[in-house]
Amino acid sequence: MIKIAPSILSADFANLERDIQKVSSADCLHVDVMDGAFVPNITLGVPVLKSIRRCTGMFLDVHLMVDKPARYVEAFARAGADMLSVHLEADHPTRILEALHTMEANGVKKAAALRPITKAEAILPYIEGLDMVLVMTVEPGFGGQAFMESQLDTIRQVRAIIDKYNPACELEVDGGISPKTAPLVVEAGANVLVAGSAVYGADDIPAAIAALRG
Ligand code: DX5
Ligand code: ZN
Repeated sequence: MIKIAPSILSADFANLERDIQKVSSADCLHVDVMDGAFVPNITLGVPVLKSIRRCTGMFLDVHLMVDKPARYVEAFARAGADMLSVHLEADHPTRILEALHTMEANGVKKAAALRPITKAEAILPYIEGLDMVLVMTVEPGFGGQAFMESQLDTIRQVRAIIDKYNPACELEVDGGISPKTAPLVVEAGANVLVAGSAVYGADDIPAAIAALRG
């Protein structure tokens, strides 16, 4: 089954509760945390996640685009994240493993994220302990960018690794997902689609979510 994860990066942050309710027909809510160092943009942190947790029962898929994410895993877990994604480029492998162990200890689902420059094989040391792999289909940092078609190969390679070592693991794609690109990533093996502008830019949001699901 294909899951749709609307990204609140494209929502109105002054009306977040209203905009979260608008996507209640989706499967989970994608929350983009950016620190101004790992990526040039700055978005939101632990206090905002805590407030989001209070106003929705949706599954919270929190994408940490921050340097040295192990420092923040426990705080985001306590704030109500259901799943945390850490970027493999954001720290040394031992510290990434530490971040994943902290997620496990705090009862949060574990995901590893790959920038477009990172090869699929980079997930091999972690794959057996992961609940999800997130393949970026744009350079992380901003919503509304063009889908990178060259990432279809990475999606296919990650799908092959998942099928071989951990078939229960989900494969999420993030960036430039629209009704036009969704069938391409699904065909390549993705099963969780993040969408910001394609959802929040639509006049009929439930219809946009249904269209992405295919
Ligand atoms: C980008 C974020 C994405 C972003 C996607 O760095 O990780 O989640 O919100 O936005 P769209 O769907 O507009 O490309
Ligand atoms: Zn994201």
